[in-house]
Amino acid sequence: MMDRPSDSVRDFGRDLGPATSGSAGALGVAPESSMLWSCRPWLWLPPAWAHALAPSLLPLAALLAPDADDLRWREFSWRGMKFRNPLGTAGGLDKDAESLDEWAALGAGFLEIGTITPKAQGPNPGRIVDRDVRAGALWNRMGFPSQGLRVARANLQDWSAAAGGPGERLTPVFVNAGKNRDTSLDQAAADYALVIRELDDLADAFTINISSPNTQGLRDLFQPERLRDFLSPLREATRRPLLLKLSPDLDAESLASAIDSLLSVGLDGVVATNTTLARPPQVNFPPEGGLSGAPLATLSLHMLDEVLRLLGRGREGRLVVSAGGVMNTDDVLQRLDRGADLVQVYSTLVLNGPWLFSQAARRLRPLP
Ligand SMILES: Cc1cc2nc3c(=O)[nH]c(=O)nc-3n(C[C@H](O)[C@H](O)[C@H](O)COP(=O)(O)O)c2cc1C
Repeated sequence: MMDRPSDSVRDFGRDLGPATSGSAGALGVAPESSMLWSCRPWLWLPPAWAHALAPSLLPLAALLAPDADDLRWREFSWRGMKFRNPLGTAGGLDKDAESLDEWAALGAGFLEIGTITPKAQGPNPGRIVDRDVRAGALWNRMGFPSQGLRVARANLQDWSAAAGGPGERLTPVFVNAGKNRDTSLDQAAADYALVIRELDDLADAFTINISSPNTQGLRDLFQPERLRDFLSPLREATRRPLLLKLSPDLDAESLASAIDSLLSVGLDGVVATNTTLARPPQVNFPPEGGLSGAPLATLSLHMLDEVLRLLGRGREGRLVVSAGGVMNTDDVLQRLDRGADLVQVYSTLVLNGPWLFSQAARRLRPLP
């Protein structure tokens, strides 16, 4: 049973202004306002280097994070999970569950790991990531680089030993499942089901990712005649909440049919959205690959509205997660006001640093 948002979301008030007190490293001291961080030194590096180095810089950023208690705002509970706030990390940021401690310390209300594929695989060949700082945009064509199920399981197990298992942790973990590049679409469900079954005892919820534009043919699984058959065995593989991650490039008919399938198979919610193949005029990236960040916001907002409308009474008990173009606290509030239960971010963390969680808390946490 879902705790209805009106019952379970404790809205502690809005725009309370910056904190005026706090302990060292707490919300009274904004690490991002220090000279070094405000220059965003990681942007001096080529995008691929910055991407590769980020995990080793995270522990340093996490040292400057606020006290855990200062990161509570709009607490929310759903299906036994307790969220200290509704702002989490999006799929792809921590593909192998290597930085769970750091993102939790930085203030994420929940974490999505993966996309995890059954077998380890490398990224697509050639350039896989780029950015346009002025447009607030990222471009990637990674193609699910993953150390595979075994490594993800070991990392998640280690973390759970300290942080607690599903339902016990301060920061719920969603596992984003995918298929290996060399698995055919006809066999795809077996890959997803394997990831789900093998991580079932460690995950709070699962996200099914068939919306990446970077694995050839993957989005064909949204075809109405395929989707229900593809989703049914995944529903049978777990009793945990199961979410479908949507593409912002679905046309109206395919979106309606995806929501229809999701409801009929008994999935528990959606993540809207993944990256887009669209190229708004303000960016100049290659035609293949996924665009994310600020230029995705309009599409992603439109998808959120449409998903809520199409769910209709099926919204009851289901979770709606909004992702795509959320760049600052105002954007987070806009998504929550429009009806999302939870919000996820990726691009802003890369472009502006990992401080959005503490910035949001500084503005929105309850008065002491
Ligand atoms: C470099 C990069 C890698 C990504 N990898 C994944 C992934 O493995 N799985 C997934 O579901 N989404 C992935 N995404 C999509 C994000 O989870 C998110 O849906 C998208 O970037 C929109 O959010 P944003 O505008 O806040 O970045 C990736 C995005 C980027 C920028």
